[in-house]
Amino acid sequence: MKITVIGAGYVGLVTAVGFADLGNEVICMDKMPSKLSKLSKGISPIYEPGLPELLQKQIKQGKIHFTDKIKEGINFSDVIFLCVGTPQGDTGKADLSQVEEASIDIAHNMNSYKLIIEKSTVPVNTHQWVKKVIKRYLKKDIKFDVASNPEFLKEGSALDDFMNPDRIVVGVESEKAKNIFKELYRPFVKKSIPLIVTTPAAAELIKHASNSFLAMKISYINMVSEICEKVGADVDMVAEGMGYDRRIGKDFLCAGIGYGGSCFPKDVKAFIKIAEEHGLDFSLIEEVEKINLKRRANFIKRIKNVLWIIKDKNIAVWGLSFKPNTDDIREAPSIDIIRELEKSKANLKLYDPQAEEGFKHIFPEKQNIKYFDDKYKTLKDADALLILTEWDEFKKADLNKIKENMRLPIIIDGRNICSTKDMKKKGFEYYSIGRENFDLKEVWK
Ligand code: UDX
Repeated sequence: MKITVIGAGYVGLVTAVGFADLGNEVICMDKMPSKLSKLSKGISPIYEPGLPELLQKQIKQGKIHFTDKIKEGINFSDVIFLCVGTPQGDTGKADLSQVEEASIDIAHNMNSYKLIIEKSTVPVNTHQWVKKVIKRYLKKDIKFDVASNPEFLKEGSALDDFMNPDRIVVGVESEKAKNIFKELYRPFVKKSIPLIVTTPAAAELIKHASNSFLAMKISYINMVSEICEKVGADVDMVAEGMGYDRRIGKDFLCAGIGYGGSCFPKDVKAFIKIAEEHGLDFSLIEEVEKINLKRRANFIKRIKNVLWIIKDKNIAVWGLSFKPNTDDIREAPSIDIIRELEKSKANLKLYDPQAEEGFKHIFPEKQNIKYFDDKYKTLKDADALLILTEWDEFKKADLNKIKENMRLPIIIDGRNICSTKDMKKKGFEYYSIGRENFDLKEVWK
């Protein structure tokens, strides 16, 4: 099939490359010339494992190309994916100006029937607005459908999530749209991946309700981690015991410094706003957000309780991205934690396998903030090591080397990546989340 993707951001690019890899012919549109010139050369503007290789392969095979010419993109196919940004506006509501702009572009350039598919995360009933805007600006009598097909891609494993999703959700209003989707997703249905066909409003809600539910699971286990610390139980054991119940499931029960990223914080806020607009009380997920932000404050308190005076302490930090296998630092807990430590005048030595460049835009290198390209180099004369992201390479780090380099063998782990037993055996003063902690009762109040 021929497919048009509007927006070469995270979702758009993965969608475009994914569909091209399935044998479709794809054109991907974006308004940023700098991004397009990179993409046309096979350079991915984002870090996502496997993406550059697949992008280059599809360019070579002529399955994908990039353009900023709106007319060319819209006339190319009957199937148009809207993958533009829907960032958080001032009030927490989603800012849909890019969705409106793309809808107007489509209306102005429509040459034949189009199926316009919202893939970006949007508030429920956005499809109504897209339809209304296109109708207003469309000067010819051309039929079109608007559908919703939310994405559930995780950064760091987006391509695998695209190829092997748990489910595909499509919200349609016509038989024609339904049949196009059936054709488009045939390779997935063949692999027995469920294709859920519903209304556009239900599909839009499925996305917000799913992300808010996952955020709730994380905040729930983080809440449980607090009682674990009080009574001396291990939150990872509690989570394991809970997870065997198939109704609960094991995923997303890792306690830590909480969620960040471009989706959960924004989507939870937007869902609360949508409810508010309908006069509903969504205090359950307001609490999810509150608990999540408190994680960061608690972690800072923990650092202060362990180190006492922060001023002039050498603090090594491993992990800046909001999660492993990405360079994304949007809403990362590391930002609030580093900001607070900087205010308290610590000497910070930072390391992340991918996120250094982005982080430097917020925290440029200076006297008390230094970046290192080797994690062990951050440890020289360190009074403490903080672990803020659970990159694999941290899990495999050489404990002897860590200990040799540090001034004091203190590790404060915000992601529970080390075994408390191993750390004790190696002689570390090790603190983590919701587990047995060194001198816990004496130090923390
Ligand atoms: C999320 C959704 O998972 C995905 O379906 C949606 O399309 C986009 O938003 P993503 O933001 O890439 O994906 O990351 P995800 O893996 O879901 O993690 C989000 C945050 O939660 C990260 O900061 C992660 O560290 C944190 N997290 C996750 C926990 O703190 N504990 C967990 O158990 C799981």
